[in-house]
Amino acid sequence: MNHAEICPEEARRERILIIGSGGREHALAAAFAADPDVAAVFAAPGSDGMADIAKCLPLNWRKPAPLADWALANAVTLVVIGPEEPLANGLTDYLRERGLTVFAPTRAAARIEWDKNWAKELMTRAGVPTARYAAFDEADAALEYLETVDLPIVVKVNRLFAGKGVTVTDDLATAQSAVRAACAGYDAAQAGMPAVVIEECLEGPEFSLISLVDGDRFCPLAVAQDYKRAYDGDRGPNTGGMGACSPVPVISEAHVAAAIETIVRPTVRALIEHDAAFTGFLYAGLMLTADGIKVIEFNSRMGDPEAQVILPRLESGLSGLIRALLDGSTPTAHWSTDYAVGVVLASQGYPQGPLRTGSITIAEPLEGRLYHMSTARAAALTGDATASDAPTASSTNDPTDSPTDDSTNASTSTPTSAPTKTTTDTPSPDRYWRSTGGRSIICVGRGPTLAAARAAAYRDVGRIRSDVLFYRRDIGSHAE
Ligand code: AMP
Ligand code: GLY
Repeated sequence: MNHAEICPEEARRERILIIGSGGREHALAAAFAADPDVAAVFAAPGSDGMADIAKCLPLNWRKPAPLADWALANAVTLVVIGPEEPLANGLTDYLRERGLTVFAPTRAAARIEWDKNWAKELMTRAGVPTARYAAFDEADAALEYLETVDLPIVVKVNRLFAGKGVTVTDDLATAQSAVRAACAGYDAAQAGMPAVVIEECLEGPEFSLISLVDGDRFCPLAVAQDYKRAYDGDRGPNTGGMGACSPVPVISEAHVAAAIETIVRPTVRALIEHDAAFTGFLYAGLMLTADGIKVIEFNSRMGDPEAQVILPRLESGLSGLIRALLDGSTPTAHWSTDYAVGVVLASQGYPQGPLRTGSITIAEPLEGRLYHMSTARAAALTGDATASDAPTASSTNDPTDSPTDDSTNASTSTPTSAPTKTTTDTPSPDRYWRSTGGRSIICVGRGPTLAAARAAAYRDVGRIRSDVLFYRRDIGSHAE
């Protein structure tokens, strides 16, 4: 039975507008496109990579009036906002004032992400377990405090920083420079919030528990694990996330149940008490410590790359879950029992820059899914040789690895075959891309075990040809 027979056009009611253009938004668009209750998926601005499943609009959140005009004129039933920046800038508040239904938090509720100090105060008052911390308006007091703490220590810039404002270090000088960088040119009085948060360093496996929330009702999604560091073995700087897996074998159902009762439930209640009732995706970044589960951070949105491994496993319609919550019930999500592993291919130089951007060729049909994080469609490259001769993406960007190691690792960890003549002679329009930013694409493999999903993801990584991308080889290997 095809999609139209299961759910005829006239019975599909949702017309969804997704705000954003990255891999998370591509995964959201794919989930809505596969949802029998959804009649149309729009994205503003979207990306070339999702243009086959969503109508991409030449609009973006920085000009909210034309965005709202378009949504109203085109009978959009639900707006879903992907990235944190529009949330912190009050896009939800504006679109709601214009009469649209928005599944995303207001600026007040999104504060749980854009003001880490406020989030810490909220958790402390609500008794939600989290790392001990202190917050500072300026560098001198923070540097003095650093002299008194045990190492390792965690220094967090207290504002949105594209997921890169956290320094975890056992070196005092590194902690001091992170403090100075967080405070330089920052006026805490004007901003109305401290410059920097310094936190006790927790230890244990990390996992992300993201819930669909409306007020005090919520629907937890499957757990995922994000690989934040740039290089293999959790070395190098923190990034937006170099890969993810879902579910996470080391996190049991009992752990999830405990996290829901001790963290998610008291937090959504505390948000209501602080006049910041939350609607949208509430992301709890958690750590299973020897002392129980503790909060590392909250985000006010879906995770990226967590969305890309969670949403493909969702067997319930995403729009139905959201609509049920908005209508006052508490739905339960149903999940595939398999595993998903997503490996990010990022531009060399990411995250510090300068970035090496350039061409990407998808050399063979892929087994799993690929989501575009930051790419644009490129014209077909000339000649057969270009696709088959271009190097496979390198398995490391780590400046401490030798070039010899790089090539050895690339060829042993990602066996690839050159594209056949036939495929190259008849290029599909989906083969040629160029990277346009840091994290470019993510290959998601599925399988009955984590190892099988991992192998599938890396087989697809081996089908990507580029001399400007790198990736980690150990995504999914810490979850068991
Ligand atoms: P965040 O942006 O707050 O998620 O931090 C990025 C990463 O830094 C987290 O995923 C952790 O790996 C690490 N991190 C943040 N806070 C702590 C902490 N208190 N203890 C240990 N690691 C942390
Ligand atoms: N992957 C972490 C985040 O979305 O912030």
